[in-house]
Parts: sequence; C-alpha cells; structure tokens
Amino acid sequence: MSQILPETQGWPVCGRRRCDRVSRGSVAGSGWLLLCRPGFEAECAAEAVAQWRGRGGGAPQVTRGEGWARLRFPRTALEPAGVSFVALVFARQGCWLADGIETQPFDGPQGVLERLPQWLAAVPGVTEILVEAPDGEAARRLWPACRSLQERLEGAVSPARRGSQEGLRLHLVLMTTGEVEVGVAPLEGSSPLAGGIPRLRHSREAPSRSALKLEEALKFFLGEEGSRLLRPGMRAVDLGAAPGGWSWVLARRGLQVVAVDNGPLGRGALDTGLVDPLRADGYTYRPERPVDWLVCDMVAPPARVAKLVGLWARRGLCRRAVFNLKLPSGDRLAELRRCETIIRRELAAGGGSCELRFKHLYHDREELTGYLVVEGVVGNPPARTRTPPGPRGRQGRKAGSEAGGGRRRGHRAG
Ligand SMILES: C[S@@+](CC[C@H](N)C(=O)[O-])C[C@H]1O[C@@H](n2cnc3c(N)ncnc32)[C@H](O)[C@@H]1O
Repeated sequence: MSQILPETQGWPVCGRRRCDRVSRGSVAGSGWLLLCRPGFEAECAAEAVAQWRGRGGGAPQVTRGEGWARLRFPRTALEPAGVSFVALVFARQGCWLADGIETQPFDGPQGVLERLPQWLAAVPGVTEILVEAPDGEAARRLWPACRSLQERLEGAVSPARRGSQEGLRLHLVLMTTGEVEVGVAPLEGSSPLAGGIPRLRHSREAPSRSALKLEEALKFFLGEEGSRLLRPGMRAVDLGAAPGGWSWVLARRGLQVVAVDNGPLGRGALDTGLVDPLRADGYTYRPERPVDWLVCDMVAPPARVAKLVGLWARRGLCRRAVFNLKLPSGDRLAELRRCETIIRRELAAGGGSCELRFKHLYHDREELTGYLVVEGVVGNPPARTRTPPGPRGRQGRKAGSEAGGGRRRGHRAG
C-alpha cells in the first residue's frame, strides 16, 4: 500500500464547502506565516498578499526565506470571516502569528515546555499543537527536533479539549536553531500535517513515482469522500498515462482506465487487468461516452492543458478531473490565473459551471495540481452510448479502434 494514513484521518480536506471559509475560532494576529516549496516563496507571498488585500487589509510587510514567507500587517487584526490557509494554492501550511507571543527565542524543548502554559493562556481555545519547520535546506535539519518536541508535547492540551472537531491549532514553527514562531489557526483552516507534508510511501508495484502525485491529490481534494467518488466500476481516461502510475492508482481503486499515451505503459499498470492502453494523441482523443474521471499529466504548455480540460468539461465528457499544469518559471501566479480563466470561460460557453481548485502539493515540483468538478453542463455530451471495451492487456491499440474506427464511432478530433 502506498498510503500510510487511513483514508479519513489527519488530512487537510479541501472540499468545496469546507475550505473556502473557516468561521470557527476568533484569532487576533499580527500577520501570517506561510510554508511552501523552496523556490516558490514569491508566488506564495504574492497570493497571500492578494488574499489579505482582497479582504480589505492594508499593505503588509513581506519577508521571505527558504521555504517560507511572512506577512506582517500594519496593525493587529482579528481574523475576518475566516481565512483558510488550506485553500491557498502555493502555501502548504499557514497560521496567524499570534498577537503578542509570535517570534520567541527557541532555547530547546525544555524552554518551550516551560513557556507553553503562557502561550496557551494567550490563545484560548487551542485543542491541538503542531510542531513543524520550513522545507528549506537549513530548516530541514530541525525536523528531527520537531518530531521529538511533538512527542514531548503529547498531553499538553487538556484531555477535555483534545480531539475536538472545533477549536484552534497552535503552530510552533522552528525557524532556526534559536527562533520559534508561535502561530494559530482554526482546525480546518490549516494542515494537521507538519509542514503540510503528507507521509506517503512509494509502492514497488507502482510503475512510476508520479503515482504519489495522484495519491496525494486524491487525498487532499476528496478527503473522506474518496471512497464514494472513486468506486469500482467507474470509468476513467488518463491522458499522458505512460508509464502508468496514475492509471495504476485508479485501477487499484477498481476503476476501468483507458490509458492514452504515445509511449508504452509499464507492467505494473497492465497487471491490474483494469487498464486499457491506447496509443493516441491526448489532445485529440475523446471517449465515445462520458467518463466519471479524466486525469491528465501530459507534459504540455499549461494553457493548452487548461483548454483541453475545459473542453472535456464543456462537452460533458467527464464529471471530475485531476490534472497537472507544468508551470514555466516567471510569473507562475499569473499563469495559474490565466489557466483558471480559460477553464471557466470554456465551461461558461457551454452553459456549465464548475468547482475548480488548485494546490501546489508536496509531490508536485514545477507543476500545480488542479481539481475540477463539472456542474450543470447543458452542452454537448456525445449522443452515442456503448458498453466500454474491457481491458485488453496488450500494448499499442491504435486510436479509433476502441469503437472500431475514429470519427465514425465517436473518437473526435478537437
Ligand atoms: C509526466 S509523464 C506521465 C506520467 C504518468 N502520469 C505516470 O504516472 O506514470 C507525461 C507523459 O505524457 C505523454 N504525452 C505528452 N504529450 C502527449 C500527447 N500529445 N499525447 C499523448 N501523450 C502525451 C508523454 O509520452 C509522457 O509519457
């Protein structure tokens, strides 16, 4: 198994109604501390500043380091209608810098234990404590200290409060060997995982490490709904499938997958018996009847992938999609917004709408993962229906042969 954590436990869930606004808890803070992938600090800060200003806040002062960005607000603010750091795209983790107790000296675990009661008194309502450090090269050396401090803090929150679904999470972020940031966030507004980093183990059966990207995406975006939304018997198309990691992830959940690629699939995916390889161009392949899931990991310009996903959605060819946008260096935030607009426009042109989310997941590198739920498409789903072919377990079936011949049988270009 590539997952260690149980399906429903310990994951930040980004379901639509859960992560937009987090209304519980009232947090007085002097700023935000955000953790992200090293190299993405500028995007992380820019997105957060836009969020803050969009809520009517004054211009914050921004500091950045390796794997983190800090916003300091002109004056102490009470948490507005509820910000969710989970909903930010580039931040893996985030918290309010707790007013009056932020930026403390770190003088070892004993010092933290001694000062903890004072911090807890300053932020009433804490039900959970998380110790973490940024993902930069220097700060990573603090990860073992974080784990050991986390263990020592076991039991620091009163048993009556522990495990509560409501309340606040106290974040102790070891920034350097001598400094700890003390922050706070509503339970649903930040990740319960240290640094927002999931522990997933690569399975030897998986055809590629890319499998971890989809595993993480499904857990992040679907959370406890995963087993309802990914069920045996459902049908999926995987565009840019080779060597087959994503197809393998879906097949292990019992889905039937048409795996489209110019290149060959690895044995791991084929051995599931549920993956049907198809040598075809991912841009022009269309299923002859709608599928439950589209996944797309093609190495392609992000706007082109966005257009393709939008087109599938507009035509009602898939109900849900997970896709990667490989972002070029430069203004990645602007590129993301452009892709978002392309998808929304495409859907609106077909009279539909969607739930659309993005996240820079831990297993993403230069790419972002998108999640789309198509709603109210009144457009143009293909009229023909036909039972999909079973898995054939052989390589190299040509595009068009699924239904016995290209355009005539429902494989349409563009
Ligand atoms: C990053 S790999 C996909 C890895 C895969 N998701 C996995 O888990 O093993 C990108 C794939 O996209 C395929 N690809 C790129 N352009 C394509 C196109 N126009 N049509 C079909 N496949 C394409 C490449 O052949 C390559 O196998």
